[in-house]
Amino acid sequence: MKIQIPKGTFDILPVSPEEPWQLSALWQFVEETVSQVARDYHYQEIRTPIYERTELFDRGVGETSDVSKEMFTFEDKGGRSLSLRPEGTASVMRSFIEHNLAQQKSVHKFYYMGPMFRYERPQLGRYRQFHHFGVEVIGVAGPAQDAEVIDLLYQIYTRLGLKNLKVKINTVGDLESRSLYKAALIKYFTPHLSALSSDSKIRFEKNPLRILDSKDPHDKILVAEAPSILAHLSDEAKTHFQQVCNLLDQIQVPYEIDDKIVRGLDYYNKTVFEVISEDLGAQNTIGGGGRYDGLLASLGGPDLPGVGFATGLERVLQVMLAQKTPFATKPGPFIYFIPLGEEARDKCFTLATLCRHHKIAAEVDLLAKKVAVGLQNAARSNATYCALIGSDELHSGHIQLKNLETRQTTDTDFDHLITHLQGLSCQLPIFKHLTGSGASSPL
Ligand code: HAM
Repeated sequence: MKIQIPKGTFDILPVSPEEPWQLSALWQFVEETVSQVARDYHYQEIRTPIYERTELFDRGVGETSDVSKEMFTFEDKGGRSLSLRPEGTASVMRSFIEHNLAQQKSVHKFYYMGPMFRYERPQLGRYRQFHHFGVEVIGVAGPAQDAEVIDLLYQIYTRLGLKNLKVKINTVGDLESRSLYKAALIKYFTPHLSALSSDSKIRFEKNPLRILDSKDPHDKILVAEAPSILAHLSDEAKTHFQQVCNLLDQIQVPYEIDDKIVRGLDYYNKTVFEVISEDLGAQNTIGGGGRYDGLLASLGGPDLPGVGFATGLERVLQVMLAQKTPFATKPGPFIYFIPLGEEARDKCFTLATLCRHHKIAAEVDLLAKKVAVGLQNAARSNATYCALIGSDELHSGHIQLKNLETRQTTDTDFDHLITHLQGLSCQLPIFKHLTGSGASSPL
C-alpha cells in the first residue's frame, strides 16, 4: 500500500508541485529575500531546535492561548515531555537565557526561519507543519523599536512585491491598563455570559481579553460592541502607542488602528500588530507580532524588553501567487552537454565534471538517445548553453556552444572550454511570472 504524507503537511518540489506555491525555486527566492531584508536591518540569524521541553511553551506562549492547546507533545524514552515548537519566540528567549547573551551586549536583534507545528484543523492557509520567518529584538523598550520591527515586516512584503496589504495595529497596554480593561470586559460580558460560545466562557474565566479573538459568529457580534482598550490605557501606554503611530507616519508605513486585535498568544503587552491580505480566504493574516516586555523574566531570564513578529511563509507565497508576483529563480546549468553515442557520453561526463570543478554549473544528459530529446531536456532545465558532442567533435576536438535563448553559437575546443565558458557573460536571474489557478485544496 502507498504510504501517504501526514495530514496537514506538504512537500516542496523542484518540478510540477500540485499547488504552484509548493515549488522549491519559489521558496528559495522568498527565503533569500526575507533573510536579506533582515540583514539590511542588521539582524542576525539564530537557529534553535525543532523541539523543546514542553514546559517552555506552557510558560512561554501561555496556557490560555490557542497555540498551547494545539501542540504536538510526546514523551521521549527518558520520560521527558517534549513538544514540537509551535512558534519561535519562546525558543529564542530560552536560548538567550541559556547562553547568557545579555552579558554580550545590550541590544540583540535576531531573525529565524523554519518549520513550526500546530495540531490544527487543516484548511487552505492553515497547516500542521508550516513555516515562519520571524524576528525578535531584545533590550529596547522605546517605541522606535516597535516601529522598526513593523517597518521591517512591511519592507519584507514590499521587497517581495506584495500589494494591497493592511497593517493593523493596536495596543494591549501595560499591566495597569490591562487590569482596568479586564474589569471593563468582565462588566460588559457578564450579562451576555450565557450567549457566549463554550470556548469564550472559558476565556471569560481565564483571560477575558482573549474573547476579542473569538472566531465564533455570535461572539463576534458581542465583541463588536465591547469596550475599547484604547479608553483604558495608562498614560505611559497611551504615550507609547501614540509615539509608535507617529513614527510609522514619519517613515510612511501605512497602517490602521484596530482596537480589537489581541493576538493568539498570551505574552504581549503594549504594541500588537497584524498584516492582512484581502487576496487570501479565511486565513488572511500573513504576519503578526508585538511587544512582550515581561516574557524573558517570566522564563527566568533578565528583565529585558522584547518585540518581534513572525510571518507565515505559506500564506506569503499564496498571496504572491494570487497577485501573480514575478520572482527570480536561479538559472539552470550554464552548460548542458548532449552526447551522441557511448564514447561521446564518457567525454561529456568528463567535460561536465571539469566544468563543475571550476564552479561552472554543468549538466550532462546521460540518457539522451536522440538529439531532439536532448535539446528538449536542455531547454527544460533552463540551461544557458548546450553542446552536442558526437563522433565529429570527438575527432576534431572542436565544439560548438549554442546559446539556447539567443540561438547564437560560439566555437571552442576541448582544451579551451573552461576559459571560453568563463569568458562568456554571467548569467542573470530569470524573472518568472507565477502561473496556475492559485492555491485551492486543503491538505
Ligand atoms: P502567530 O500569529 O501565531 O505569531 O503566527 C504568525 C503567522 O504564522 C500568522 O500570521 C500566520 O501567517 C502564520 N501561521 C500561524 N499558524 C499557521 C498555520 N497553522 N498554518 C499556516 N500558517 C500559520 C507567532 O507565532 C509569534 N511567535 C509572532 C511573534 C514573534 N510575536 C513576537 N515575536
